[in-house]
Amino acid sequence: MALSQAAPPIKEMLPVYKRRTFAIISHPDAGKTTLSEKMLLYAGAIELAGNVRARRDRRNTVSDWMEIERTRGISISSSVLQFDYADYVVNLLDTPGHQDFSEDTYRTLAAVDSAVMVLDAAKGIEPQTRKLFEVCRLRGIPIFTFINKMDRPARNTFALLDEIQEVLGMESVPMNWPTGDGNLFKGIYNRETERLHLFTRTERNERRAAETLLTLDEFLQASKQEESTLGEKLLQDIELLDGLGIHLEPEKVLSQKQTPVFFGSALTNFGVELFLQRFLALAPFPQPYKAIDRQILPTEPDFSGFVFKIQANMDPKHRDSVAFLRVCSGEFTRGMSITHQPTKREIRFPTTYKTFAREREIVETALPGDILALPNNGRFSIGDTFYTGRPLEYERIPRFGPEHFAILHNVDMNKYKQFDQGLHQLETEGAIQVLYNVHSSRREPIIAAVGKLQFEVVAARLENEYGAKTRTEPMAIDAARWLEFDETVDIDALARQDVILAKDTKDKYVLLVRARFMLDLIQERFPSIRYSKISAS
Ligand code: G4P
Repeated sequence: MALSQAAPPIKEMLPVYKRRTFAIISHPDAGKTTLSEKMLLYAGAIELAGNVRARRDRRNTVSDWMEIERTRGISISSSVLQFDYADYVVNLLDTPGHQDFSEDTYRTLAAVDSAVMVLDAAKGIEPQTRKLFEVCRLRGIPIFTFINKMDRPARNTFALLDEIQEVLGMESVPMNWPTGDGNLFKGIYNRETERLHLFTRTERNERRAAETLLTLDEFLQASKQEESTLGEKLLQDIELLDGLGIHLEPEKVLSQKQTPVFFGSALTNFGVELFLQRFLALAPFPQPYKAIDRQILPTEPDFSGFVFKIQANMDPKHRDSVAFLRVCSGEFTRGMSITHQPTKREIRFPTTYKTFAREREIVETALPGDILALPNNGRFSIGDTFYTGRPLEYERIPRFGPEHFAILHNVDMNKYKQFDQGLHQLETEGAIQVLYNVHSSRREPIIAAVGKLQFEVVAARLENEYGAKTRTEPMAIDAARWLEFDETVDIDALARQDVILAKDTKDKYVLLVRARFMLDLIQERFPSIRYSKISAS
């Protein structure tokens, strides 16, 4: 995606330039939920603060549609929060916080224009942050870093910056700088305004009133009076940083060469507003999206968007399904007719929702960057385009290479129809990928997923929603590759190797190997085969 922040002169007049659509990526427990909550608090959505977390409890009443989610108290499916801050309209797309995540997380990142990476100051970059970062890199979206939990003992600040640089390959540009950590945490120095924001502890949901601001000199004096070395240390650090000559270059942020780094403590609301203000000013507005034969600008008058996520049975009483659509151009108004590209049917949506956690609010209008929740009766699939005016089709969202595989046994053969129907629905939603062993006489499907938890989700949903009891038999598969080859390749000879040759439901060949070295071996024996880790959905 080619990012550009150069808006035409009418910028201020067009609300689309005031949209910010982003996701927070983090390793579980780094503070993603807390930071989301505090952003809402500062956005004036005070009555909503705590709501993100309250999902855990609310799930027991409103959304016990998925037993696993309830019993484990984890958020499996993403939701969308929209709030206003200053004159921005902010869309925060929540990504599941559990260690074991699904393709949903990846797809959510296909619908945002930037990402906030939250790191725990005591831990730095953890495995899941890295995985998610790689998806952001693939998509070319800018990343902003919030180093959280400074009120707890933290790692050396320079070491944290080096780690970002070394592991993620981006220049880290500290926008502010902490003084002390844990019990000695005294505040953060804003390098742009050259003022130190003094830290005091606050109650959890208390919005910070005016903070005490000190110049570096004033802090140095105060620190000396307390016989503390923190003032000296801060002075040295700032001189060192200035000497390194690393400065924020917005173009480099947009092209992922730099990540602006902010420090703070989400739990105590410290540094959150400072972060939010700078982040919203620097983050890109809704970007152009690539359709098959052209780029679509957000300012184009015709409405268009694509489905990036499908969630079924959000409300068990209604057995409904919702397709989440990212608006890419034009304006959506309630009740308008829009064309569903795959079927070319014109559909009118009198009730289109915005969702807040699991609650819904009817949408009157939506602009590029906004997310619509469309009522769906199994008609729509991930990646489907909707438009008005000139026909167009957005490029499909790539599917990420599954890492876990299992044979799914249907325990009760009388329920075959329900089993099939449920499996089809779950694949449409993108919960799992379904493969069939080409050379097995048994038609038992192989289910493949990015995260293992998806297997439990599939089994639970097949049983609860379709009455089909199943048993999953994990497979020892190390890697999967989609294959492309010409007619010179002897498929039967390939299938006779020590591999599993399968087909996905789009009839594409997939090679499953028990050990990665087999990939090289097969490549040597069948040189014209090309591997792909992903397939277009
Ligand atoms: P996640 O969504 O990334 O998984 O993390 P979450 O916000 O749920 O935070 C994980 C834990 O870290 C929570 O504690 C939360 O209170 C704590 N935390 C978040 N930010 C900060 C911070 O800036 N400083 C400190 N000291 N702690 C922070 P918990 O005990 O799991 O939950 P709770 O009992 O506090 O709700």
